[in-house]
Amino acid sequence: MKKQKTTSTTAERPRILVVHGPNLNLLGTREPEHYGRLSLSDINLALVRMADSGGVELETFQSNHEGALIERIHAAREQDVRAIIINPAAYTHTSVGLRDALAAVSIPFVEVHLSNVHAREPFRHHSYFSDLAIGVISGLEHESYLLALEYLLNKLNVE
Ligand code: DQA
Repeated sequence: MKKQKTTSTTAERPRILVVHGPNLNLLGTREPEHYGRLSLSDINLALVRMADSGGVELETFQSNHEGALIERIHAAREQDVRAIIINPAAYTHTSVGLRDALAAVSIPFVEVHLSNVHAREPFRHHSYFSDLAIGVISGLEHESYLLALEYLLNKLNVE
């Protein structure tokens, strides 16, 4: 069951959602030459710590199922999520459904990739997300996520 946050201070903070697509639960052991050696928990912990010190509430979500990712994005609108960081993983190159979910909720998002998708196989060069994203960060391993968060923290603090 999902943990409920109870303190009023957290409830008042702007919310950011981080969405990880399929196979990213295997980070740490999965093709480290492409994806680095940090586990998904390591990356999530670094993100939560950085968000905490930036005064933002950050939630992470990973699924290997397209429908679950789509439903999480729909729920983000009800939760007043201000921005999304998403690594759609393999769905980057295949999923019109996930793209349409992001378009439907109109929540600004940054697309991130651990590996440099443009330096890999041609089928990874096309993304169904990039033209809708605020920006795309690819190839900086886990720092792709951290830099996306740094950008959003700056943006939310000046809005
Ligand atoms: C990825 C790149 C995708 O091509 C691949 O399918 C992934 C991870 C990345 O973070 O580099 O699963 O999104």
